[in-house]
Amino acid sequence: MKKLNVALFGVLLLIFACQRPTSENKIDLSTPWKFHSGDDPSWSTAAFDDSRWELINPTEIWEKQGYKNLDGFAWYRIRVIIPHSLIDNAFIKDSIQFKLGKIDDYDQVFLNGELIGENGKTLPVKTDPRPDFFKGASQWDTERRYVLGVGDSRVHWDQENVIAVRAYDQGGAGGMFSKPFEISMVDLSDHIKFDFTESGFKFTGDTLISKQFAVYNISAKEEFHGKLLIHANRCDNGSQLFKQETVLNMPPGIRTVFTVNVIKDLSVPATIYFTYRESASGKEVRDQIEMPYILTPKPGKAPRINGASVFGVRPWSPFLFKIAATGEPPLTYGAEGLPNGLRIRAVDGLITGMMSKKGDYTVKIKVANALGTAERDLIIKCGDIISLTPPLGWNSWNVWGLSVSDKKVRQAGDAFAASGLINHGWTYINIDDGWEDTHDRNGNILPNSKFPNMKEMCDYIHSLGLKVGIYSSPGPKTCGGYEGSYSFEEKDAQHYADWGIDYLKYDWCSYGGIAPNPTDRELKFPYKEMRRYLRKVKRDIHYSLCQYGMGDVWKWGNEVDGNSWRTTGDIEDSWESLSGIGFTQDKCSPYSAPGRWNDPDMLVVGWVGWGPRLHYTRLTPNEQYTHISLWSLLAAPLLIGCDLTQLDEFTLNLLTNDEVIAIDQDPVGKQARQAWKDQDCQIWIRDLADGSKAIGLFNLKDTPLPVNVKLDDLGFKGKWMMRDVWTQKDLGMVMTHFEMNVLPHGTRLLVLRK
Ligand code: GLA
Repeated sequence: MKKLNVALFGVLLLIFACQRPTSENKIDLSTPWKFHSGDDPSWSTAAFDDSRWELINPTEIWEKQGYKNLDGFAWYRIRVIIPHSLIDNAFIKDSIQFKLGKIDDYDQVFLNGELIGENGKTLPVKTDPRPDFFKGASQWDTERRYVLGVGDSRVHWDQENVIAVRAYDQGGAGGMFSKPFEISMVDLSDHIKFDFTESGFKFTGDTLISKQFAVYNISAKEEFHGKLLIHANRCDNGSQLFKQETVLNMPPGIRTVFTVNVIKDLSVPATIYFTYRESASGKEVRDQIEMPYILTPKPGKAPRINGASVFGVRPWSPFLFKIAATGEPPLTYGAEGLPNGLRIRAVDGLITGMMSKKGDYTVKIKVANALGTAERDLIIKCGDIISLTPPLGWNSWNVWGLSVSDKKVRQAGDAFAASGLINHGWTYINIDDGWEDTHDRNGNILPNSKFPNMKEMCDYIHSLGLKVGIYSSPGPKTCGGYEGSYSFEEKDAQHYADWGIDYLKYDWCSYGGIAPNPTDRELKFPYKEMRRYLRKVKRDIHYSLCQYGMGDVWKWGNEVDGNSWRTTGDIEDSWESLSGIGFTQDKCSPYSAPGRWNDPDMLVVGWVGWGPRLHYTRLTPNEQYTHISLWSLLAAPLLIGCDLTQLDEFTLNLLTNDEVIAIDQDPVGKQARQAWKDQDCQIWIRDLADGSKAIGLFNLKDTPLPVNVKLDDLGFKGKWMMRDVWTQKDLGMVMTHFEMNVLPHGTRLLVLRK
């Protein structure tokens, strides 16, 4: 079998050894390239003989092609004839472009021995390669497109050209990947662009959704005359909801903003299609955007208790638990059987005080309004373990990055209250990196000028019934270059407690300089160290380990007494990032338990941007449903990473579905496992406390997918009542099988009850 593969590759090589244009006037570069690890300047030259190099597929990272532990430098080379006919057949005869997918993490690209670009930026003739091109933020998610004028001396028309790519991988996945890989003339679609990121969707009343978008011409000298055609179709039956045609002339550099208004049932998925048709050539540029659709029913007027049903506290730690409840105000809160030392505030359901005796206590909590009373048991476990359900909250990083400030943190707290998120169990307001100044002469950590008074700020957040988180590193510096806790652990822990901190994210970062090739013991050491001091303070502080999954942290996070541990690198708001993280968490499944959570990183819905400039998430609505559904099945800490002052109706719908949140908060704390997987579809199942099963059907394709589920294949016997969790509707009994349509990159989240 292996031999056969090799032989086939050889044939491919003969056919594609020198690429030629296809009928679409493009040269395909997604065919095998030559590849060698290491680094040598002569590998950039046309004359270099690479005949002994290995072949590699450029659309997949090198780890997937036999180079498992390769970090650092490697080179890719390909030979191509670039015929003048590309220009002759082109509509715009100005520039030629080299599209090289993406490169993890950094690159320099040479054409016939001369540098043409670096990390996605085209460079002029005779630019010297920068020696430190592989420093700074990773460029793994940047598209590599290099554009040269047709007269550029680096292109050899009608002759063989050698493209040589010097790649540098700083760790993890490495090398060229993604698509497209091609050479073509810069065309209409490279000049005319649609931009949907400047605003979110706006909802007016029950049926009107508006979306602002821009069409722009990035060309510095080409002018286009044509028409803009827009139509919107429902995704379920294809029927047209909207159609419009506008004459649109596009001088060089122009950017025009439009608003499209579509009337539709808010719960119906639909897509808006955009076409710019150039009049003279008939050429078209197309784009499309999925419209948000709201599945979460609005909370009823009768009282309803939401959020966690079990809460852990240590003896002698300040107790703070807010009963989350919805219903028409005013609501009155009560609790029967509160253990000694605790009291409840009737106006907002805030339970405070302090417990001295270990044990499990069942408290009957009650919420009443003019329409009736809701009751539920809350189990308070006074003992050693806290965070008995995954933390629900907000963290500043994915939105504000290092530009976080006291004001932004208070605004997030206010928004939790104003938007009603607090009524669904959302609790933590966490400051990430960017708050620190230095340690003073006595070793006291000082916040920087953006945080004038930490204690006052924490008091304010607590007064809202919320909790506060903070961030540090076991190294001397944080990932953002701020002061870490190295050698100040004990004092820092005490400061956090004195300020009123309830959550610490402890991020490895520069500890890599202290333990460059960490052994298992070295990986654990700094986390044990800080834990010792956190245990000493008279305050419950959720301990969140952040070291990106090194040394399979999920296997020993429990041993170092972490409450949660990041299992991956940093998430971004793209399908590649989301699916790459979410669908590879099965390995962590056996290790989650109450107080011990696998953390696949924070949420990327709403207005994100790593600050200070923000953009609306690049995930489609379907992808966002997948995000929240999968993270809930994974029993993940849910930390919203968006600007809460700009919460739109769709994002709020994603974050306030109490049945979805109840899956995340299920008291048994068992993470879902991957029950089925093929290229197009995955099924994940989570066992819930009451014996029912939460099931996620995920469509990995970018077209709709009918999924046929046989209960036998999942090991389910007998009759089950099936409920659609997002719409909160029963779907009837199932005994043998069921079939469902799942939207592109979308999810169906179900609960099967005996
Ligand atoms: C690392 C973490 C992020 C964030 C930044 C802050 O990258 O993984 O979540 O905390 O550091 O600098």
